[in-house]
Amino acid sequence: MRVLGIETSCDETGIAIYDTDHGLLAHQLYSQVKLHADYGGVVPELASRDHVRKTLPLIEQALQEAQLTAHDIDGVAYTAGPGLIGALLVGACIGRSLAFGWNVPAVAVHHMEGHLLAPMLEEHPPEFPFIALLVSGGHTQLVQVDGIGQYQLLGESVDDAAGEAFDKTAKLMGLDYPGGPRLAKLAAAGEPNHYRFPRPMTDRPGLDFSFSGLKTYAANTIAATDGSEQQLANVARAFQDAVVDTLVIKCRRALEQTGLKRLVVAGGVSANLHLREQLHAFMQQISGQVFFPRPEFCTDNGAMIAYAGAQRLLAGETADIKIKTFPRWPLDQLNPPA
Ligand code: KG4
Ligand code: ZN
Repeated sequence: MRVLGIETSCDETGIAIYDTDHGLLAHQLYSQVKLHADYGGVVPELASRDHVRKTLPLIEQALQEAQLTAHDIDGVAYTAGPGLIGALLVGACIGRSLAFGWNVPAVAVHHMEGHLLAPMLEEHPPEFPFIALLVSGGHTQLVQVDGIGQYQLLGESVDDAAGEAFDKTAKLMGLDYPGGPRLAKLAAAGEPNHYRFPRPMTDRPGLDFSFSGLKTYAANTIAATDGSEQQLANVARAFQDAVVDTLVIKCRRALEQTGLKRLVVAGGVSANLHLREQLHAFMQQISGQVFFPRPEFCTDNGAMIAYAGAQRLLAGETADIKIKTFPRWPLDQLNPPA
């Protein structure tokens, strides 16, 4: 079965074609970074308008890349939530309508389920059950995954998501949008342990996170420096170390609590090299296994949506002809495919 995947939940238009027998046949991505840069963050209305412009041309390119035509597509998967309502509507309307016109089934995909299953696109995919650490711009969650659609939320952020904390801290350090990867780059030049930031909520039991205090901590630390590039790098390093350490501590707890030895890490922040290194080292120490998507599939993309949609379509799940989107959609409300 060949599935066209459409991702338009935020500031990336992602299109892919996944074949359940032959794997990924094509993937195309258009990032709106330049469009939003002047505003220091994503402007939802501009995001929607740009998805309107980019989605069909990218679908055409993906078909060309796979050397296929519309007749070769057996199903359409689109992100139906969570995300920006206007942006979601573009992908959902186009995806559902193409499926209707092509007379093939459509399926509405949960964006975080897409992230969570992204490592399945790699050569050595994880087996169920596993613990998933989902770290994106909008979510920080620890989930026990027993199978597709079998998700038990173990903990989540009570305020800013990890990616959001990276972005906000980067902004107050004067770094351009998108701040996360820029802050990470600056941190690489920072001296370890020059400053030490707290590891929030690690001094009490539980698997929830709180990252909003770290940006205030960063602001106060910056105010006390001479503002030199090296001092800023030291602050970036201390911030990144605090976020990464906190994530590692909570992953350790989740694995201990459940007795599982497999960890999947996905979402934009899973592209962070320091996080990848630290989790690799920790999982090696406990003789466990850690799985990451390749860096380009850590952030938003169409491949993860095509993959997740294909699994649900294979099981016979289809979206209603009435187009629906869910800007807020808790992951643990999902069910296994029928
Ligand atoms: O998954 P994603 O592309 O979009 C959402 O679903 O939110 O995640 C985007 C987030 C942004 O906050 C971005 O700053 C962060 O992931 N991010 C990073 C890195 N690359 C992306 N944060 C830290 N280090 C990185 N290398
Ligand atoms: Zn995402």
